Amino acid sequence: MKILIIGASGLVGGNCLRHFKTQENVEVLGTYYSYPTSDTVYYNTLNPNDDKNANLDSFYPDVIVHTGALTFVDYCEDHVEESYDRTVNSTKCAVKLATKYNARLVFLSTDYVFDGEAGPYNEEALTNPLSVYAKHKLEAEKIVTFNNPKNLVLRVTSIYGNDFRQNNFISRIINQVEEGKEWSMNLPSDQYATPTNAMDIARAIYVLVRDYKGGIYNIASTDFVNRVQLANRVLSYFPEHKCTVIPTPTSELNQKAKRPLVGGLLSTKFLTEYPDFTFTNIDDYLRNGRKKIE
Ligand SMILES: NC(=O)c1ccc[n+]([C@@H]2O[C@H](COP(=O)([O-])OP(=O)(O)OC[C@H]3O[C@@H](n4cnc5c(N)ncnc54)[C@H](OP(=O)(O)O)[C@@H]3O)[C@@H](O)[C@H]2O)c1
Repeated sequence: MKILIIGASGLVGGNCLRHFKTQENVEVLGTYYSYPTSDTVYYNTLNPNDDKNANLDSFYPDVIVHTGALTFVDYCEDHVEESYDRTVNSTKCAVKLATKYNARLVFLSTDYVFDGEAGPYNEEALTNPLSVYAKHKLEAEKIVTFNNPKNLVLRVTSIYGNDFRQNNFISRIINQVEEGKEWSMNLPSDQYATPTNAMDIARAIYVLVRDYKGGIYNIASTDFVNRVQLANRVLSYFPEHKCTVIPTPTSELNQKAKRPLVGGLLSTKFLTEYPDFTFTNIDDYLRNGRKKIE
C-alpha cells in the first residue's frame, strides 16, 4: 500500500510518517508546505499547478492522508475567505488528487463541529458548528464523504505529541517550564475536550486504511479535561516550575470564535470495531513519551 501524507511536517502528519514507515508492505511519501523537513517534499493543496509541487505520478498513492488546514480558530473568524480556501478549497483539491489516482482520502476534522452542549460526542451526535473554522471543517467533511464511501473522516481534538515545531498546547507549556520562565496564564476552566496523542491518531489511521474502512470515526483518548486541568497536569510533572494558571470562565476571555464548552469525543465506533486498540493518555506521554524530533 502506498500512502501519501499531505502535511507530514505537521503534528498529525509527522506522526503518521514515522508510524507508517514502521509498517510492512507500506510505502510512504510525506509533503510539507512552508516548513521543509528532511524527509518531505513540497506540495501545495491550494494550487495543483504550483510549479514547485512534487510530481506524484511516479508515486501513485493508494491512500492520501490530508492534514492541511487553517487551524487558528480566532483568526478564521476575521479571515473567512482565507479559512474557506485553506480548509474547503484545499480539501476539494485533495479530493481531485484522490480521484486522479483512484486513491482513498483520509480527512482530519474536529470536535468543533459540535456545539459543546453535551460532549463528549459519539459519531451519531448531531453537528452544530459555532465558528467559521468549524463550519468550514463540516463543509469539507461532507465533500470528502460524498466523493467516495471509502473515504475516511476522522474527528480529533486537542492533539499533543512529538513534533518538529513543538507548537501544541502541552509542548508549549513544557518549553516555557524548561526555559525556567516565570509566567501566569488565564485559561478557560469550562472548555472540556479529550486530548489525544498524535501517535495514537497515526496508529488508528493505519488500521482503518489497512482494513479499507470508510465513513466518519471519532478518534480520541479517554482523558476528559478542561484546559486548566490539562495545564496543571502537565505542570505537576515539573515541581520546580514557576507558572501560575488562572482559571477563567470563557465568558471573560474575549476569544473571537465561539468554542464548544463541553466538547470532546468518544471513539465509540472505532473501539467497537477495534476492541483491542489501546489509547495512551496524558500521563503516559508526560512520564515517558516525550522525544525530540529532528
Ligand atoms: N491540533 C489539534 O489539536 C487539532 C484538533 C482538531 C482537529 N485538528 C485537525 O487535524 C489536522 C492536522 O492538525 P495538526 O495539528 O497536525 O496541524 P499542523 O501541525 O498545523 O499541520 C498541518 C500540516 O498541513 C500542511 N499544510 C498547510 N497548508 C497546506 C497547503 N496549502 N498545502 C499542503 N500542505 C499544507 C502544513 O505544512 P507546513 O507546516 O509545512 O506549512 C502541515 O504539515 C488539521 O486539519 C486540523 O484542523 C487538529
